[in-house]
Amino acid sequence: MKIAVFSTKPYDREALDEANRRHAHDLTFFETRLQPSTAELARDFEAICPFVNDELSAPVLHTLAGGRVRLLTLRSAGFNHVDLEAAGELGVAVARVPAYSPHAVAEHAVGLILSLNRKFHRAYARVREGNFALHGLLGFDLHGKTVGVAGTGRIGSVFARIMSGFGCRILAHDPYPNEEVAALGAEYVPMDKLLAHSDIVALHLPLTPATRHLIDGPAVAGMKEGAMLINTSRGGLVDTRAVIEGLKSGRIGALGLDVYEEEEELFFEDLSDTVIHDDVFARLLTFPNVLITGHQGFFTREALENIAETTLANATAFETGRGTFHRIALDPRDD
Ligand code: NAI
Repeated sequence: MKIAVFSTKPYDREALDEANRRHAHDLTFFETRLQPSTAELARDFEAICPFVNDELSAPVLHTLAGGRVRLLTLRSAGFNHVDLEAAGELGVAVARVPAYSPHAVAEHAVGLILSLNRKFHRAYARVREGNFALHGLLGFDLHGKTVGVAGTGRIGSVFARIMSGFGCRILAHDPYPNEEVAALGAEYVPMDKLLAHSDIVALHLPLTPATRHLIDGPAVAGMKEGAMLINTSRGGLVDTRAVIEGLKSGRIGALGLDVYEEEEELFFEDLSDTVIHDDVFARLLTFPNVLITGHQGFFTREALENIAETTLANATAFETGRGTFHRIALDPRDD
């Protein structure tokens, strides 16, 4: 198929070119983001391959469907950036990469926890300055602590297993409890109980209208005093302003983010020579107990290879009717 790849970075191109040796699609790489002002670029392609911060809103989809586009083959698991109803009405099929490496994201979440707890980010800078003092670096044993896992699907279940290996007690919340997680001895509880009793809260659920700002002011107020909050899922799950208030009051003892509500304007680009205009993000950067990574949870060699393979295999399956086509249904439990 003639496929337009948007938001392309050199590592995407490398992985997709390699996978395309098996699929032989006609790939055109655009560095730009897909948004209303760039959608015209894509009209003559049969398929679009977008990433997480590309815009697949109704206006963009209208432009695409007005041309030759019949397929969106997302190179991501999350699909909150796609107006699925509009795509359905316009006859544009949408496929994603449901599970490319749950380990990549789960392990990144664990990395954030270990770094925030033992202050690796601060220790690294200190030691390079010849400062070997330990004040301010005091952590706690993970062993015996309670970890709340909100969302126990592919990533959350791997995360729960790793944390269980540290000797943590697992509280879980998910409308569809996972037997593998229950078998770890995890207790499924309502969200307010999870927040009230967890020393560490990790979010591993999709962003939907129902989960937007799941962690808002009242949720922060209901957290255990000094708890750590980890979000590697989607920025919109967290009301950033409420979390900043929680950090200021000490209710939130540490915050690890791999995603941010307004990340479209920031992440994946080198902005080191520019002024950041997002004051909320800038405020987050001032806290010593906040660690932010720029949406790199997925970024392992294994994950990139799997993403490229499944993304192109979806296009092949769509075109030929052979192989698995990972269609996104309106209800994500249907796929
Ligand atoms: P999944 O679909 O396997 O699991 C999500 C789970 O969340 C499901 O079990 C679902 O029942 C549950 N859930 C839905 N609503 C909930 C609610 N209100 N409360 C509690 N649980 C709820 O998804 P997967 O693969 O585990 O991914 C989780 C999220 O991680 C994705 O939606 C995506 O946004 C994010 N992600 C982030 C990446 C990164 O690079 N930082 C990479 C890949 C995914």
